[in-house]
Amino acid sequence: MRHWILLGEAPIPGTDKSLSLFRGKDDFFIKLTGKLTGGQELMSSRKHGSEDALGALPCARIGSRAAAQVLIGGLGMGFTLAAALAAVGPDAEVTVAELIPEVVEWSRGPLGERSGRPLDDPRTRVYVGDVAKLLRRNPAGFDVIALDVDNGPEGLTVGSNDWLYSHQGIAAACRALRPGGVLAYWSAAPDRAFGEKLRQAGLQVEEVRVHAHGTKGARHTLWLAVDS
Ligand SMILES: C[S@@+](CC[C@H](N)C(=O)[O-])C[C@H]1O[C@@H](n2cnc3c(N)ncnc32)[C@H](O)[C@@H]1O
Repeated sequence: MRHWILLGEAPIPGTDKSLSLFRGKDDFFIKLTGKLTGGQELMSSRKHGSEDALGALPCARIGSRAAAQVLIGGLGMGFTLAAALAAVGPDAEVTVAELIPEVVEWSRGPLGERSGRPLDDPRTRVYVGDVAKLLRRNPAGFDVIALDVDNGPEGLTVGSNDWLYSHQGIAAACRALRPGGVLAYWSAAPDRAFGEKLRQAGLQVEEVRVHAHGTKGARHTLWLAVDS
């Protein structure tokens, strides 16, 4: 922490919390600050194995579908977006929804180098706002929906994100999927009840544990769900 340089701060709309971007010796870090959280590391550019997998695995499942439409929520450090872009074809569009405008600005600045500047890809569309709105507005709109807006179903960042992991939110995401599409969620920890909720929505669910970094240490959970 001693050698970290604060590069930017961004209030989280509708909360008393904020995100802070720091640069360390070789890496970037985003911390969540607020009354209850104190100061908690939310993302690090050093560890992104599971964020990469969230973009790559569901996009690999749709193969080389022509003019694929992918929705990523949220941008964060851009690793999920970059992995999705690497997995889809030249005529695909990948929309990334990000609630906090400053996070998009950070990615357009030095932070973007870490993920290969995915915002500069001509297939990328940026929506600054709540990914929930895009789910509601786009019935049968996407071949892949990949959601990593928080720590997981038990969120830390924005209370209203609970809806995304509720029965209603899952149903809205299913309606936003095209036939044969893939719905994917990221979580820092396993959550049996959430896997069950996806099954109750009539989805066939695969739960995957992916190392945060390399082949050792902490693992995160992904759910990949398709219509059964
Ligand atoms: C954990 S980060 C995502 C990390 C990302 N997968 C990556 O590869 O770096 C979560 C991001 O979602 C954003 N976010 C939170 N709630 C959101 C919402 N409802 N809609 C869109 N973005 C949201 C946050 O501002 C943050 O940038």
